[in-house]
Amino acid sequence: MELKLIRGGVRELNRTSSGEPYPRFEVRPSTPVIGAELRGVDLAAELDDELRAELRRALLEFKVIFFRDQEITSTRQLEIARIWGEPEANPFFPTGDEVRISRLAKDGQMFGMENVWHSDHSFLAKPARGAVLRAAEVPDNAGDTMWADMAAAYDNLPEDVQALIDGLEAEHDWISTWGRILPDDKRDALREELPTVVHPVVKVHPGTGRRTLYVNEPFTDRILGLPEAEGQALLEYLRLQARVPEYQVRFRWAPGSVAIWDNWAVQHYAINDYYPSRRVMERVAILRVTAGTDHHSDHRAVRNIRRRSPRSPAAGRLRGRFRMRRQPHAVWDSARTAAGSQRSSGEDSRDAVYWSYISHGSRSPGGR
Ligand SMILES: [Fe+2]
Repeated sequence: MELKLIRGGVRELNRTSSGEPYPRFEVRPSTPVIGAELRGVDLAAELDDELRAELRRALLEFKVIFFRDQEITSTRQLEIARIWGEPEANPFFPTGDEVRISRLAKDGQMFGMENVWHSDHSFLAKPARGAVLRAAEVPDNAGDTMWADMAAAYDNLPEDVQALIDGLEAEHDWISTWGRILPDDKRDALREELPTVVHPVVKVHPGTGRRTLYVNEPFTDRILGLPEAEGQALLEYLRLQARVPEYQVRFRWAPGSVAIWDNWAVQHYAINDYYPSRRVMERVAILRVTAGTDHHSDHRAVRNIRRRSPRSPAAGRLRGRFRMRRQPHAVWDSARTAAGSQRSSGEDSRDAVYWSYISHGSRSPGGR
């Protein structure tokens, strides 16, 4: 098995589109595969059901969506997050007007540390569904954020690597990052609440059916089920995939810019080229899909995949997955946790059925 990050040549860059128009706004795709600026939307105005549905569909298709010149309050930012699910507090970030607003204020004293490719909250049993990030103060010509499409990353892995990782799981933890900067007593207290968790190395996105690489540099520590040296070599190789430029989009912030991303589909990187200048962002993380909110757009996306390749083995697998997906509370989590790891709660029996179905479905050659 050759673990070489960059191979020159053609890359497979697929975007899963419903094929339906967006009458409520203008869409300006940023790259062939990831990112779009949506023009003509006032996020401070009423967010009616039709607009909410279009925004959900656009996020599934483009994975990160951008808005310019928005004048919104923290309260409104929370309301926007609720288009997708319930806002969630971050256990490590300082807060803004209320606890579920993370205020990321950087300057000469508090420097930016988010300049590493990562997926938010992968160290939790139920990682964030997405995030709404708003620029408050922006340095001149600096402080961009980048996102990488991790389904594209998966699609371009060699087939023998895909076959190997499809059934693997990995440990995620916050100790080696956040744990190093916390006082001992706080770290020990949080350790009780936030133990090591286990996620599949490849997750299947419930909105698009796309296989998505789910390991990241700061939080994924170990691949399970392989000899230590082999597992670390594979993990390092997989962590680096987000760095391939064809999978990426880069966004230049201005005051009033808003970005919303699908944390299940992408990783991101906050470029720290502005130190010691000041950069202030406010973020709301989205915990889970509110019951019923994703179904309409999900099913449209799947129908499109079937239209594009009606006889492909992949389409058959997707149909099977989405029959199971009709459970209203199915969320994209591994309900299986390692012994002694964080317990999932509440709706996990439904999650477990869903996840065991999609993670054990058969794969056919050529159906990727
Ligand atoms: Fe982040």
